[in-house]
Amino acid sequence: MGHCRHLWRSRRLWRSPFSLVLLAAAFALSYAFFAAPSALQAECPVVSPLLIGPQPANLTFPLLTLEAMGNKRSTSVSAGGLYRPPDCRARHRTAIVVPYRKRPTHLGALLDHLHPFLQRQQLHYRIYLVEQWGNGTFNKGRLYNAGVREALRDATWSCIVFHDVDLLPEDDRNIYGCRRDKPSHLSVAIDKFAYRLHYPQAFGGVVAMTPEQFRKTNGYSNQFWGWGQEDDNLWQRVILSGMQVVRPPVAIARYKMIKHQRDAGNERNPRNVDLLRRTKLDWSSDGFNSLTYKLLFKELEPLYTHLMVDVGKKAPSYLRGNTTTPA
Ligand code: UDP
Ligand code: BGC
Ligand code: MN
Repeated sequence: MGHCRHLWRSRRLWRSPFSLVLLAAAFALSYAFFAAPSALQAECPVVSPLLIGPQPANLTFPLLTLEAMGNKRSTSVSAGGLYRPPDCRARHRTAIVVPYRKRPTHLGALLDHLHPFLQRQQLHYRIYLVEQWGNGTFNKGRLYNAGVREALRDATWSCIVFHDVDLLPEDDRNIYGCRRDKPSHLSVAIDKFAYRLHYPQAFGGVVAMTPEQFRKTNGYSNQFWGWGQEDDNLWQRVILSGMQVVRPPVAIARYKMIKHQRDAGNERNPRNVDLLRRTKLDWSSDGFNSLTYKLLFKELEPLYTHLMVDVGKKAPSYLRGNTTTPA
């Protein structure tokens, strides 16, 4: 014992190769445990070997709500709808943001379809459902802006995908990742529009932007209440901030839109057409940088992160001037 203690204190031990090996092993172990383990993994292949290509979205009617499907717990998906490929480091870290109110059967179909689709793409992803609280007029732009702000609190996503709840992608070669230089419009060919691009400046449905690109455009306008034109406004913001939109090939970027009526509380708003004409004047002061909302709760459901937000109310018309719509 005495000898051991002596050896421990003596400098000889510290100089011995054995102790150096021990020290290196301790460092390596703690790095593997405490630094992100994924950093040690090899990057996933450029083309995922799990892709299957064209796959029409088959819906069985009547559609079930997520609750009726048992809010399916999945072994591969972590609480909040988070997933990482188990055996490689993903090339994209994508937050999927879905604006939402009262579409429970569409939500069930989307989650059922999207999780396997994204996993075949070997993405690191999380699905955020941003629900508008109350029965006031719907404001998709505010929900998207709030969703991005909340998602960026959780992680440094390399890509944000803005996703209607009723669109089901039909070919997993349509990758839910971002290009560093240009925003992408992913829902090019929707069955509702005969699988053809609806119009050259179409920028609704499903869109992918990096957080940097989103900040550059100042995000969505907060002023478009009700249905229409908030996506055309974002298109103009992209152009005004010096970028261009890219699209995947029409043969791949195919979607089924679940049929529905226009929702109560989201009626077409003719004022939005006037607002669209003012984009050039308003875009730098109205958007991600002027957003106000209250996060009422954030719950980690098995298949998605549920954000309930109060985005405020459309001001009554007698208070509305020609140009401003206070929160
Ligand atoms: N939305 C919703 N509840 C509503 C209104 C809209 O969840 O009451 C969301 C949903 O994600 C939907 C998107 O907003 O897909 C766009 O609205 P809608 O589907 O009516 O527009 P469309 O693209 O079909 O004209
Ligand atoms: C509207 C868009 C809408 C698109 C597809 C356009 O006329 O301006 O807001 O997304 O139609 O329905
Ligand atoms: Mn729709």
